Amino acid sequence: MGKSKTIQQLIEHFRRENIRKVVILTDKNVDRCHGAYFDGLSEHVAVDKLVLAPGEKTKSIRTATQVWDYLAEKQYDKDVFLLNFGGGMVCDLGGFVASTYKRGIRYANCPTTLLAMIDAAIGGKTGVNLSSMKNGVGTIYFPDIQLPADVTLLKTLPQEGLLSGFGEFVKYALIGSAKLFGELCESDTFPEIKQEYIDFCINFKQDVVRKDSKDENLRHILNFGHTFGHALESYAAKMDRPIAHGIAVAQGLYYESLLSAKLGHLPQEDWHLIADFLTKHFEIPEITPEFLEKLLPYMQNDKKNHDGTLNFTLIDRIGHAIPDCQLSKLTVDR
Ligand SMILES: NC(=O)c1ccc[n+]([C@@H]2O[C@H](COP(=O)([O-])OP(=O)(O)OC[C@H]3O[C@@H](n4cnc5c(N)ncnc54)[C@H](O)[C@@H]3O)[C@@H](O)[C@H]2O)c1
Ligand SMILES: [Zn+2]
Repeated sequence: MGKSKTIQQLIEHFRRENIRKVVILTDKNVDRCHGAYFDGLSEHVAVDKLVLAPGEKTKSIRTATQVWDYLAEKQYDKDVFLLNFGGGMVCDLGGFVASTYKRGIRYANCPTTLLAMIDAAIGGKTGVNLSSMKNGVGTIYFPDIQLPADVTLLKTLPQEGLLSGFGEFVKYALIGSAKLFGELCESDTFPEIKQEYIDFCINFKQDVVRKDSKDENLRHILNFGHTFGHALESYAAKMDRPIAHGIAVAQGLYYESLLSAKLGHLPQEDWHLIADFLTKHFEIPEITPEFLEKLLPYMQNDKKNHDGTLNFTLIDRIGHAIPDCQLSKLTVDR
């Protein structure tokens, strides 16, 4: 059902927009598991495929250059359509290439990870990493068409990938739905990711993005867990012990909930519920004062900081976020 709906939407879109040339951008793992997914398209448009090495290291300006060169060597013009088929890495990189090649070509994301379905594939943020900064270069450039999430693609996703998406998913519950968080807490094991959960996250993000497409205010609520999360992710990558984005976010959710409680925004009983839940499903590293010193430079690098203060999204209850809290001093001892 999911696949045929995706293909059908694409074919209708291509017909309507008179699109004849499509380049599928994907990575090796996705191609191995779902290489035939778009076979039905070739009866309608000319389909080409570019397969990248998997992993966050591929999300670089170097790879972007390789994709630009590939498109140029094959003499693709402004009318080519880029179809990003993969997780957040492929969606971010492909969106960035689409926004810049010949000053912008049309594209869509067909997400294959939980994280990409509920986050990376929505909202138009594209980009690549710099060696010292996650997502250091990027654009806001919206896909031509928003494709439906096909949950059947997740069947081949390794458990770590699912857990990473789950971290981002818990974020949506903490900033947007106490009811959803309550449901998640009912299960002692890893909860089943239902289609309705995915739909809730997609609708929530789309609604926020619609109200603040340029990421000026409301959209900052989506950054809950991400100031610490990005720092932990960047630090781990620097140490050559990379951790998945959503897992770093889950760790960030823990510390930013703790911060919310320490600053008196979040009631203690809510903090305890969150801490119990997150420690049940994720490994939460201890952040000693020495470790915090190492993370601070990464947090200070954050694009949302101004004048030496750190910008955080905090929560004042489960299901409700307060964006743009400026903090000049940090303590996260438990
Ligand atoms: N643009 C945004 O708004 C936004 C939001 C959140 C995250 N992101 C970015 O997303 C990236 C992380 O995305 P991710 O967690 O999807 O990682 P990913 O794209 O690197 O995918 C994780 C792994 O799963 C494999 N994989 C993907 N789909 C598969 C499938 N269906 N079956 C089997 N294997 C599969 C990939 O090859 C890869 O090895 C980060 O770069 C992050 O910065 C962007
Ligand atoms: Zn994220």
